[in-house]
Amino acid sequence: MILTLIIKYSLAKNVCIGAIAFLFGIWMLWTFGQINYFGRADFNNIIKKQPQPLRTNASETYFTILFYAIPAWFNPKTVVFDECSYKNCKLITDKKLLSTSEAVIFHHNSFSTLPDKPSGQIWIFASLESPYHTSKHFNTEKVKGKFNWTMTYRKDAEGFSPYAFLRKQLHIPVKNYTSIFRNKTNNIAWVVSNCQTQSKRQAYVKELSKYIDVDIYGRCGKPCLFKGEHCKMHLSKTYRFYLSFENSLCKDYLTEKILRMYSNSIDFIPIVRGAPNAKDRLPQKTYISTSDFQSPQKLAAFLKIIGSNKTRYISYLKEKHKYLASAYEKSNFFAGLCDICYHLNVRTQKPKTIDLNKWLWENQCHMPNDIHVPN
Ligand SMILES: *[C@@H]1O[C@H](CO)[C@@H](O)[C@H](O)[C@H]1NC(C)=O
Ligand SMILES: *[C@@H]1O[C@H](CO)[C@@H](O)[C@H](O)[C@H]1NC(C)=O
Ligand SMILES: *[C@@H]1O[C@H](CO)[C@@H](O)[C@H](O)[C@H]1NC(C)=O
Ligand SMILES: *[C@@H]1O[C@H](CO)[C@@H](O)[C@H](O)[C@H]1NC(C)=O
Ligand SMILES: *[C@@H]1O[C@H](CO)[C@@H](O)[C@H](O)[C@H]1NC(C)=O
Repeated sequence: MILTLIIKYSLAKNVCIGAIAFLFGIWMLWTFGQINYFGRADFNNIIKKQPQPLRTNASETYFTILFYAIPAWFNPKTVVFDECSYKNCKLITDKKLLSTSEAVIFHHNSFSTLPDKPSGQIWIFASLESPYHTSKHFNTEKVKGKFNWTMTYRKDAEGFSPYAFLRKQLHIPVKNYTSIFRNKTNNIAWVVSNCQTQSKRQAYVKELSKYIDVDIYGRCGKPCLFKGEHCKMHLSKTYRFYLSFENSLCKDYLTEKILRMYSNSIDFIPIVRGAPNAKDRLPQKTYISTSDFQSPQKLAAFLKIIGSNKTRYISYLKEKHKYLASAYEKSNFFAGLCDICYHLNVRTQKPKTIDLNKWLWENQCHMPNDIHVPN
């Protein structure tokens, strides 16, 4: 009798431990899901690796990072390394301290001449623009062997600084999707202010509009009744789709145009055109990519199907509403600076200097191949 009780008890206990372990596993997965955002290996490393005494005593070693050429929109005073996994870095802007800084950052279009480079210093090239919009003075010989690292939107940059990160939301908004769907009477909206671009997005839209309605707002179209982001929020009440078309077709190049769509108050499905590898960064079934269609005509046919099928349409919106984008462009160097501090502490890579011109262009961008563009 007692024996069976003990067996029962220990079985129950095992089941209990099993259940706890199982729940713990789920919790771990869930937690990781919360922290993790799309395609950021460096960041995952940062999370996993606990700061450990390197060189001498990491907590006593301080790295000074000089933002020598700083863009007007960036406020260095708001940078705090407290939120990074390696906190022992300091960002300064006083050019007089050039010789005593470990690393120096140059924002691409915020300087005209480079100072002499003290030996042993790490020079970092920074830009958030695609190569087409990056200042041209990086293809000169003078710049050649000067830069060691980069801080850009590119994933292979030492300081990975995407326009925003996407996270899974803890509290997914409750919405009446039937009502949202019913209120939509228009097909595609596009707010755009730069009418001529490398990506030839204007030509793509012209072709697309032969097969499905596209309403253009902003400087290249009609004025929107609401200013800034409110415009898109308002349009998303009546439009089914929105064109998040970048000005360049380059690897990793996804800007606020698509990332701002991951907001609780935006109720349309974004159609992305920009980075050919968008699927590495954006969660599946939350957007539609032009690169999945041979032509604007094929895309239009697909949009008509999705736009008229309530179940399918809503499933995209619901999936999109599971995610939220972090703060936008003004702060995106923060993540990059954390990475730089990590690399200063943990020298995982061999010393290197980059040929900037080559780094900017090699295997990065492509011309549109799904529309016919007259030269
Ligand atoms: C590193 O420095 C901190 C702060 O000065 C000190 O508390 C700690 O004991 C040091 N650790 C080692 C391993 O020397
Ligand atoms: C959602 O909206 C529809 C149409 O406006 C309405 O008939 C329905 O009652 C609403 N559902 C809920 C749960 O509020
Ligand atoms: C749909 O439109 C009606 C009438 O303008 C409005 O009252 C309702 O709030 C809208 N539904 C949603 C989900 O925005
Ligand atoms: C909508 O799509 C679903 C899933 O693909 C499909 O089962 C359903 O038949 C479609 N409804 C209509 C009206 O076409
Ligand atoms: C940085 O670049 C210089 C050349 O400008 C080179 O001598 C040095 O080894 C590089 N350092 C690192 C850590 O990559």
